[in-house]
Amino acid sequence: MRRFSHLGKTAILFLILFLLGVHMTAEAKGTIHRAPFGKLADGTAVELFTLKNATGMTVKITNYGGIITHLLVPDKNGKLGDVVLGYDTLAGYLKASPYFGCIVGRYGNRIGKGKFTLGGKTFTLAKNNNGNSLHGGLIGFDKKLWKPEAAVGPEGPFLKLSYLSKDGEEGYPGNLSTTVTYTLTGQNELKIDYAAAADKETVLNLTNHTYFNLAGSGNILEHELVLHAERFTPVDAGLIPTGELRSVKNTPLDFTKPMKIGARIESKDEQMKLGGGYDHNFVLNSGGGKMAPAAKVFSPVTGRLMEVFTTEPAIQFYTGNFLDGSIKGKGRQVYAKRTGLCLETQHYPDSPNKPAFPSTLLKPGGRYATTTLYKFSVASGLSQ
Ligand code: GLA
Repeated sequence: MRRFSHLGKTAILFLILFLLGVHMTAEAKGTIHRAPFGKLADGTAVELFTLKNATGMTVKITNYGGIITHLLVPDKNGKLGDVVLGYDTLAGYLKASPYFGCIVGRYGNRIGKGKFTLGGKTFTLAKNNNGNSLHGGLIGFDKKLWKPEAAVGPEGPFLKLSYLSKDGEEGYPGNLSTTVTYTLTGQNELKIDYAAAADKETVLNLTNHTYFNLAGSGNILEHELVLHAERFTPVDAGLIPTGELRSVKNTPLDFTKPMKIGARIESKDEQMKLGGGYDHNFVLNSGGGKMAPAAKVFSPVTGRLMEVFTTEPAIQFYTGNFLDGSIKGKGRQVYAKRTGLCLETQHYPDSPNKPAFPSTLLKPGGRYATTTLYKFSVASGLSQ
């Protein structure tokens, strides 16, 4: 018995080819895979998301703290290697983490004396760093469980994380709903879109605290760096900006031309002493507000190049000065001093207490939206 007419068979064939085509197009944009990543103390399940693009670049992110746990990018021989510091298990992150790979909020970096005034009212924050408030306080966004939504979109696989921070959390005013979306593109870019809205006046400064090591191990002193910043904000002994915008000219903080990170890190310069190395907010030449180049870093050993683009007006360049070898991370690697570097795109530290700095105020009805993109490739050197 003939079950399908000739026409029917052709239609079925086309349908199969169409579905195969759709599947292959989706594959060409990359894949996303989710798996359990342990449990919080109260038993809540945490997940790990693996985003992979068509070239093989892979990023693993957990919805605990939005932490980037692994980032596999090719070296000059096309070999994939992990370029970020972190732990193999959730337990590592729960025990103690110097902000490995996480989302930082509500306020990245320091607010002096853990206090600020808004509309005539003073808000007191949790003090967790020499009398100041650092990276959102005691239980910042890095220690929250985010609601995940994962899919493959037109640009590639993405993970959208949402979190509602209640009015008064860590001392900050207003209910704040935040989303952070990580997208892995086909051009070996990891894009992070931050968005938020609040129901009361508040301050906000979101960033990501990934420690990069483009060599995959060892220290980062041989990495070369360019920062598109003619000025930085000098700090006091508590690493709070003094309010001054100072030129980097004739200082060890001048990275306007390619320079080895280790070349001047032990300099007697007062700012270098206060930071214990590099731990400074660089004022980007772009001024913020539009996507612009912020930094590039290169490992001569592996040929890996990372370019950073952002809409933010500044970037914190931190050389892992507080890492002291007490942490055994992935593959039991010992993370000694300066084995990772952070390039945290941001508004200036302590802006809520510095009216002359670009404002971090978020009003009800207003929309917070910033984007930062890390692009990976290989190169033979660092051009200006
Ligand atoms: C930021 C700060 C540093 C340090 C690290 C976390 O980069 O600027 O001083 O607190 O975070 O260890």
